[in-house]
Amino acid sequence: MKELWVEKYRPKKLEDYVFRDNHQKAQVQAWVKDESIPHLLFSGAAGIGKTTMAKMLVNELGIESYDVLELNASRNNSVDEIRDKITGFVQTIPFGPFKVVLLDEADYLSPNAQAALRGVMEEYHSTSRFVLTCNYPNRIIPAIHSRCQGFHIEKIDQTEFTARVATILVEENIEFELDTLDNYVKVAYPDLRKCINMVQQNVSGNKLSSPTKGDEGEADWKFEMVELFKAGKITQARKLLCGKVRAEEMEEIYRWLYDNLEIFGEEEKQDTAVIIIKQGLVDHTLVADPEINLAATLIKLARL
Ligand SMILES: Nc1ncnc2c1ncn2[C@@H]1O[C@H](COP(=O)(O)OP(=O)(O)O)[C@@H](O)[C@H]1O
Ligand SMILES: [Mg+2]
Repeated sequence: MKELWVEKYRPKKLEDYVFRDNHQKAQVQAWVKDESIPHLLFSGAAGIGKTTMAKMLVNELGIESYDVLELNASRNNSVDEIRDKITGFVQTIPFGPFKVVLLDEADYLSPNAQAALRGVMEEYHSTSRFVLTCNYPNRIIPAIHSRCQGFHIEKIDQTEFTARVATILVEENIEFELDTLDNYVKVAYPDLRKCINMVQQNVSGNKLSSPTKGDEGEADWKFEMVELFKAGKITQARKLLCGKVRAEEMEEIYRWLYDNLEIFGEEEKQDTAVIIIKQGLVDHTLVADPEINLAATLIKLARL
């Protein structure tokens, strides 16, 4: 299988990371220079470089891999699982100056799981640092906020965004028209991961082709889906989705739903929606028929 460009070109060094503002760059440089970080909470929209920032920082700090635990909260189901993994890891003495727990997508954790996490953060503060990422900082409990330095990542501007993708294409010796690239940018911005993935999928030979109907239509079916959801036309929304998406794209739908929680109404409904979406995502990889799982998830969401 071809290597994914999002991984191949994920910046590992500070100088390769495109910063939105110099303030933040200076802050990261200061941490690297001091060889020390507080507990951190990176927040921001999907695909704009939160995970990249967290990994780049750990790398620049020179923390050895045996002192790093990477977990993705959206893939780990239970409170116990998360707590057991983390306590098992932080209990032993670090080889280097400290251990780092990189907890990606921490906002997928229930408030209970977050409370347990906060306890561990407190207990092992002298030997461990926690680096969390999330899309929605307001889904993180205050007790964790108050223990972490918040770091909100804004989207980079569209020119830099385009330049970043263009650089990858040049590195890969792909021929492309700027106009063609622009069409991808229009659909994906500010989600850089999505843009890089779409572009990679549409390269044949060493040429970048125009977005396929699917790519361009994507935004459309999402709009259509939201309209149907809002109008309570659940059966149609489900047919639309299950008919249009390939199995490989389903995971993205769960994530899209999560990124657009406001379509489910007020905060309380959003809280329930998170639980349903997360369960759907976890089951997605386990069940025999992912399409039925998606349909069942959508039905539950529509009943909110
Ligand atoms: N600021 C950035 N500078 C350079 N590349 C970036 C930046 N942000 C994102 N990317 C690219 O986009 C991809 C997705 O970023 P990622 O950090 O996984 O996003 P998320 O915010 O969802 O965690 C990365 O693999 C990287 O190639
Ligand atoms: Mg991420």
